[in-house]
Amino acid sequence: MPRRLYIETVGCQMNVLDSELVAAGLLRAGYELVDSMPAADTILLNTCSVRRHAEDKIYSKLGRLKHVKQQRPGTIIGVLGCMAQKDQQKIFRRAPHVDLVVGPGQLGQLPALLSRIAAGETQRLQVSRERTCGDRRSVLASYEPYNPGRTPKMRPIPHQAMVRIMSGCDKFCTYCIVPSVRGPEQSRPVGQIEAEVRQLAAEGCREVTLLGQRVNGYRDDGTGRTLRLADLLARLNDVEGLRRIKFVTNHPTHMTAELIEAVRDLPKVSPYLHVPAQSGSNRILKRMNRGYTVEAYREMVDRICETIPGASITSDFIVGFCGETRQDFQQTVDLVRYSRFKNSFIFKYSARPRTKAIDLYEDDVPYEEKQRRNNELLAVQNAIILEDNRPFVGRRAEILVEGPSKVSRKRVDKGGIIQLVGRTVCDRIVVFDGPAELIGRILPVEIEKADGHTLFGKQHPIH
Ligand code: 5AD
Ligand code: SF4
Repeated sequence: MPRRLYIETVGCQMNVLDSELVAAGLLRAGYELVDSMPAADTILLNTCSVRRHAEDKIYSKLGRLKHVKQQRPGTIIGVLGCMAQKDQQKIFRRAPHVDLVVGPGQLGQLPALLSRIAAGETQRLQVSRERTCGDRRSVLASYEPYNPGRTPKMRPIPHQAMVRIMSGCDKFCTYCIVPSVRGPEQSRPVGQIEAEVRQLAAEGCREVTLLGQRVNGYRDDGTGRTLRLADLLARLNDVEGLRRIKFVTNHPTHMTAELIEAVRDLPKVSPYLHVPAQSGSNRILKRMNRGYTVEAYREMVDRICETIPGASITSDFIVGFCGETRQDFQQTVDLVRYSRFKNSFIFKYSARPRTKAIDLYEDDVPYEEKQRRNNELLAVQNAIILEDNRPFVGRRAEILVEGPSKVSRKRVDKGGIIQLVGRTVCDRIVVFDGPAELIGRILPVEIEKADGHTLFGKQHPIH
């Protein structure tokens, strides 16, 4: 009987992609995928370390899995991803029923490691060498690139796919644990990415999102001349069958004129840019080691809006970073008001081990104050979303239909018409009624209502 796999993912899109690739690899190795823990005999948790809260939740979940192991001793429990790399043996100490701890740089070894555990081998730790020891080349080598073949049926939405173009990060923002768990920055060769995207498009994929921690720092030096993200986008724009290209996450210091113009000029590239600002105060940006000033960020926003009319920009913010005063925070509010982001993802600062901030500064903003600033910034951003969504009412928008909305996943189908959800090129969510056959199509929709983050539309008759 095939082994039954259940995989649970927390964290960013990079983790979602890793889980998809891991599941696809295990499917090829003869596993069957199940959608609940009780039905599984192999349980994998793909983990995140960016904030403490995510880790606490994973440890409490691992604690509960102890009973599963007691009741069904043949069950294999594995911890993958960033927390595996960060905590290593500590995971076995805190949860002795865990069989396998595998870092993000060793995921390719997973099928073999699982077979060894199934054959009776005991607890196994497979992680990369730390960044602080050894020279860059040997540390790099210990983070093995993980870009195996794709399997369309593993994607939640077959018409959309994420494609890794870079891994790791060399920026070392003082609050961020990513460089220490995902290793040094490595770009994939253009040819390899292009081949993967061609294959995806041939399988019916219409939209790709290119992933990297600092995606606009992409460079491929292997072809005689340095190829940058703008060059890669130009190559992918020619892929037949592909309709939309997005990329995340951008760093403000690499938002070059060449890249912004490529977004304007290449018809398949969405005019949607996620460029986290993190703070609106120069003092805090300096403490964060972000490498730009708020004036430079504003100037970048101006450049994007002037070059690509109608572009949408989104951002991330950390509130309550070490030493952040009310005045610093007010400057963040001012930046949000100035930039009119399509959306902002707001996080309360969480002190992380093995980051510079933990050695350099005191985590001195009380939790309640972080929460207050979080709510305040969210309210400012939400008001902007509402105001900026309103002008869409009465307009026609072209959307890529992603699938049934959350509402219709719970509701019984009414004569083949369900509530569908799609996205505009600027990444705005549109909900409308239509038949399931529309999933994966790009079509015009009349927008009738705007409500918070969602636009409500009616399918435009196609002549
Ligand atoms: N605390 C809170 N938020 C963080 N982020 C990264 N590290 C931390 C931290 N220590 C946020 C940043 C980043 C997003 C993915 O997570 O805003 O852009
Ligand atoms: Fe973390 Fe900064 Fe790298 Fe982003 S650019 S992953 S915030 S270190």
